[in-house]
Amino acid sequence: MAPPTHFTLNTGAQIPAVGLGIGTWKSEPGEVRNAVAFALKNGYRHIDAALIYGNESEVGQGIKDSGVPRSEIFVTSKLWNTHQPNVRGGLQKTLNDLGLDYLDLYLIHWPVRLVPNESSELLPVNPDGTRSIDRSWDQSETWRQMEEVYREGKVRAIGVANWSVPYLEQLRKKWTVVPAVNQVELHPFLPQHKLREYCKSLGILLEAYSPLGSTGAPIMSDPEVQKIADAHGVSPATILISYHVNKGVVAIPKSVSEKRISSNKEVIPLSEKDLTVLDGLAGLGKAKRINTPLWGFDLGFDDWYGPTK
Ligand SMILES: NC(=O)c1ccc[n+]([C@@H]2O[C@H](COP(=O)([O-])OP(=O)(O)OC[C@H]3O[C@@H](n4cnc5c(N)ncnc54)[C@H](OP(=O)(O)O)[C@@H]3O)[C@@H](O)[C@H]2O)c1
Repeated sequence: MAPPTHFTLNTGAQIPAVGLGIGTWKSEPGEVRNAVAFALKNGYRHIDAALIYGNESEVGQGIKDSGVPRSEIFVTSKLWNTHQPNVRGGLQKTLNDLGLDYLDLYLIHWPVRLVPNESSELLPVNPDGTRSIDRSWDQSETWRQMEEVYREGKVRAIGVANWSVPYLEQLRKKWTVVPAVNQVELHPFLPQHKLREYCKSLGILLEAYSPLGSTGAPIMSDPEVQKIADAHGVSPATILISYHVNKGVVAIPKSVSEKRISSNKEVIPLSEKDLTVLDGLAGLGKAKRINTPLWGFDLGFDDWYGPTK
């Protein structure tokens, strides 16, 4: 059976199963604009943006350049950590930069508040070099404000990113709107089986970020992934993206190369056997979390392999 092209959010809206990730720190001017325009002209209808990527005005220009009507595009953005006490302000900056008057999905980027200071507005550090984190900040207050902008109609769905089961359990005590999405690092080296089950039980759709293993796409060179790719006559990237979609998860591979943007939207059906092999790779000693910012270590993930201070 052909894999789904869309999933249904708990709001009833449809979300395309593959989106273009544009979380790129080191792009040349115009690169993101071209990538977004090219992707939309070539069949993508889902863009994964965020304020911290520093390129939302280019994303907005790319959307305009494409000529694709706004109503046909699913646009996600994310509330940055320093804006947690002022969701409306963070959202307005994103909307202004994108040149849009609503988002299809707005996510809390991390369940962490960073306190801006003279060192930086977005990535502040304390005088001793540690991150300026406010661990006492109540995430349910951020969510309350997310629910407000949702009710006002500026965002058509709200969700979270990088939330573990214990964090969702805590938020659940206060939420009146169930998050539509949890966007997390997800790939065969970090399959997060428990989180997957938990989100499914609450009707929260998972989105897989870094589906190829992030910069340089390192998971593509895994021999088991390569073997499945050879058997299907496709590239390992297609297998890694199809893995998610076949499991009911959105994938948002990043590329600024026209060739790779085109090929990354191809999704093929995988057998139960293929999925079992891919699901089992982490258990064979290959487990790896790639995105490990300093503020992430005590967020309740039972598979944190990054720094702990
Ligand atoms: N919520 C969060 O905290 C969070 C964190 C990280 C990422 N994200 C989102 O997830 C998106 C994807 O994650 P990611 O950027 O970390 O990693 P990724 O999509 O797993 O990998 C991107 C890397 O793979 C390369 N690549 C892409 N397609 C390829 C292909 N077909 N063959 C070979 N190489 C290929 C890209 O290079 P080229 O560009 O040169 O093709 C880039 O170096 C981000 O852009 C962002 O939107 C969210």
